[in-house]
Amino acid sequence: MPPLSSRSRVEPFHAMDVLAEATRRKAQGYPVISCAVGQPSHPAPKAARTAAKAALDTGRIGYTDALGLASLKSAISAHYKRYYGLDVSPERIAVTTGSSAGFNLAFLGLFDAGQTVAIARPGYPAYRNILAALGLNVVEVAADAENAFTLTPENLDAAAGEAGKRIDGVLLASPANPTGTVTGRAALKRLADYCSANNIHFISDEIYHGLTFAGEEASALSVTDDVVVINSFSKYYCMTGWRVGWMVLPEAYLRPFECLAQSLYISAPEVSQIAAEAALTATDELEVYKQTYADNRALLMQRFEAMGLPLASPMDGAFYAYVDISSLTNDSMAFAKKMLAEINVAATPGGDFDPVDGSRTMRFSYAGSTPEMAEAMDRMAAWIAK
Ligand SMILES: Cc1ncc(COP(=O)(O)O)c(C=O)c1O
Repeated sequence: MPPLSSRSRVEPFHAMDVLAEATRRKAQGYPVISCAVGQPSHPAPKAARTAAKAALDTGRIGYTDALGLASLKSAISAHYKRYYGLDVSPERIAVTTGSSAGFNLAFLGLFDAGQTVAIARPGYPAYRNILAALGLNVVEVAADAENAFTLTPENLDAAAGEAGKRIDGVLLASPANPTGTVTGRAALKRLADYCSANNIHFISDEIYHGLTFAGEEASALSVTDDVVVINSFSKYYCMTGWRVGWMVLPEAYLRPFECLAQSLYISAPEVSQIAAEAALTATDELEVYKQTYADNRALLMQRFEAMGLPLASPMDGAFYAYVDISSLTNDSMAFAKKMLAEINVAATPGGDFDPVDGSRTMRFSYAGSTPEMAEAMDRMAAWIAK
């Protein structure tokens, strides 16, 4: 058999592996609580499900324009006006099959193989894996307490110097996974100015917008139009399985990105686009869900402190606690496996997010229900006290 490509050799996404093992155990009847994957336990908002049902009952679900249904793009444009006070024309919006497809499109559209993209470490592992699979170099920039857990011109310059590489792209998530870091408007502006001065593409992952509990949530679009913004219905809108997201693009990128999208995906699923449009009207319901995350966040902060496990970064946004477990182990992978096997609590080892220091951290998603989170904390506290 001829060999597989070197590009296929990406790291496993351990959170998904932990989820698979948790699902297997659940099917065998174990009382598993999953804090492993960033997935709301709430269903998609009622309006979204109703719209999807009506679409299934009344019509054929077909392809849409490659960059999405015009009505959804208009609704997203109206969301920018309502939520951020920003004017973003519907033409600049590209609907994608989740933000994951947005990353593929952005990386293919902006970079040639061999170019270099900077991301934060710790950070969302799929960035590193998609970039590697597309033949791009990755510079991981240590985002720690010294730089408020985010990317700055200073740590970017330092990391580029150390790697001996010119940086061609900067990808920042705010709020960030797994650190929960919220990068405010002034810091985004510094980053955007740095990118513009150095001819660097700026990509802003805003998938956790709407889920900020401390700090200032700002879109990169409030400081520059020279940015590719990536967003999704997966998190705030509780629609992970619907696979629908969007990008906001500078006008000049629209046609090339449309051509790439036509051939790579044809379009995002129409039924999901119809549901997503309705989800944009469901703020009242979604704000109730957000309150559960706020309650869970308060609970986890208090319980981890009581267990003597410090947070590795502030829990300002998204729905993750990134916890320093170095007082218990220096092998977070083994810790995750043992915790699942012994107390049926699934969480993600830090190595997924940080290949350098992640052996002493774990990420707990608090997107589940409050009773589940409380039970997970009870089990952990009893387990580590043993
Ligand atoms: C920072 C970040 N970006 C993107 C994604 C991918 O989301 P989706 O493809 O469901 O939109 C995730 C999922 O966990 C994430 O944490």
